[in-house]
Amino acid sequence: MVKICCIGAGYVGGPTMAVIALKCPSVEVVVVDLNQKRIDAWNSDTLPIYEPGLDDVVKQCRGKNLFFSTKVDESVMEADIVFVSVNTPTKTTGLGAGKAADLTYWESAARMIARVSKSSKIVVEKSTVPVKTAEAIEKILTHNNKSEIQFQILSNPEFLAEGTAIEDLFHPDRVLIGGRETPEGQKAVQALKDVYAQWVPEDKILTTNLWSAELSKLAANAFLAQRISSVNAMSALCEATGANVAQVSYAVGKDSRIGPKFLNGSVGFGGSCFQKDILNLVYICECNGLPEVAEYWKQVIKINDYQKSRFVNRVVASMFNTVSKKKIAILGFAFKKDTGDTRETPAIDVCQGLLGDNADLSIYDPQVTEDQIKMDLTSKKFDWDHPLHLRPMSDTTTLEKVRVVKDAYEAAKDSHGVCILTEWDEFKTLDYQKIYEGMQKPAFIFDGRNVVDANKLREIGFIVYSIGKPLDAWLNDMPAVA
Ligand code: NAI
Repeated sequence: MVKICCIGAGYVGGPTMAVIALKCPSVEVVVVDLNQKRIDAWNSDTLPIYEPGLDDVVKQCRGKNLFFSTKVDESVMEADIVFVSVNTPTKTTGLGAGKAADLTYWESAARMIARVSKSSKIVVEKSTVPVKTAEAIEKILTHNNKSEIQFQILSNPEFLAEGTAIEDLFHPDRVLIGGRETPEGQKAVQALKDVYAQWVPEDKILTTNLWSAELSKLAANAFLAQRISSVNAMSALCEATGANVAQVSYAVGKDSRIGPKFLNGSVGFGGSCFQKDILNLVYICECNGLPEVAEYWKQVIKINDYQKSRFVNRVVASMFNTVSKKKIAILGFAFKKDTGDTRETPAIDVCQGLLGDNADLSIYDPQVTEDQIKMDLTSKKFDWDHPLHLRPMSDTTTLEKVRVVKDAYEAAKDSHGVCILTEWDEFKTLDYQKIYEGMQKPAFIFDGRNVVDANKLREIGFIVYSIGKPLDAWLNDMPAVA
């Protein structure tokens, strides 16, 4: 029986290993983490992350060939293949602060593998890492071990998206495996290929050299984020000219060379990966003496920041240039629908912007807890462009002005405006007539995800702002927003 151990029971490690266990009954999978609370949750009925379909997969295999444990050393020692799926956040201090990936967790995992191993192993980079990380990991493993033990490093970046993780893992567009071009390296590639081949068609398993696999993950995320920033840049121009971003992106996406996906205008992208991975790419470009290339990719993040502040400016400008002491409902806080993840969610910046203008916020999200929202809004925000400055935010002031409520109607009651910040399906079918009746007048809706039928809402009486779409006469009359 092949034994797999995965270090890191997070958004990637948990779902990925659960699917491997389900699809490969002859493989034993142990997912380990240092975080006892997280492991306890994986072993309970309330999993630590929300992901459609995940409960079902975990229930089918847990206790059979899928285990969650904090016995890190023991599980790594017994494994043939060790996946490393620890977090690789952006460094906040020291060399490369604000851009470089922080590999502290990765390095300590590698040192631990070297320390406890008593037999040869394949070590798989699952985390997104800078190109050439495998070389560093190889050095750590070989310099800290007995010579009779061999380690083969593979790069197997994960392309799942939160919210559709299980579907993505069941039917991936591709699985990418990079390895050394030596006979031993190729043998390791084949061993990992054999695992995936149990459910992924052969032609979707791509094999490359190590550096291509590492770089492809950063490149894919940079390209995806770039599409969002490109369409969001167009959305600003649409508002200025009377074009409609939905019509423009439909027309553009019909070009088969471009395609329709990732072309919706929105308040901006979020999530733990896009910004972090682009910054990582920017840093790698700078370190390789390519400032122009670095600047090109930086612009993707700058447009994203611009889009979030443009949204806040639009809200404030529309409401007579002041939201001070006005109740504003925030519908949706997660960075996208079908996840409770709030890492880098645009809602944090939008809410902080509105709080900065002294608004009272009433926030509802179907999957994000009150504690999480309050923590996100009071944590000092790390400013990627000025890493030494943390944007200050006083806890008491913030919390006094924030209420987290249990449904959209309660959030909207007595409010002056409603901001939709996550595209949860339930926001499409709310009883907007009822919401309108309960609100202060004029009643505003600011749709940061273009999910509502603006014309229907206008018939009810709302003043509606949809990103990138022709503006109501009301909004047109208000001062221009930057
Ligand atoms: P996460 O933060 O949810 O999970 C990482 C886990 O690793 C944490 O539970 C942490 O306690 C654990 N950990 C850290 N050091 C450890 C150690 N030495 N021993 C044992 N456990 C340790 O992170 P997430 O979102 O799962 O991301 C992991 C990696 O996968 C990152 O590099 C990320 O860029 C990449 N990735 C993330 C995707 C996503 O959608 N979240 C998609 C594709 C890749």
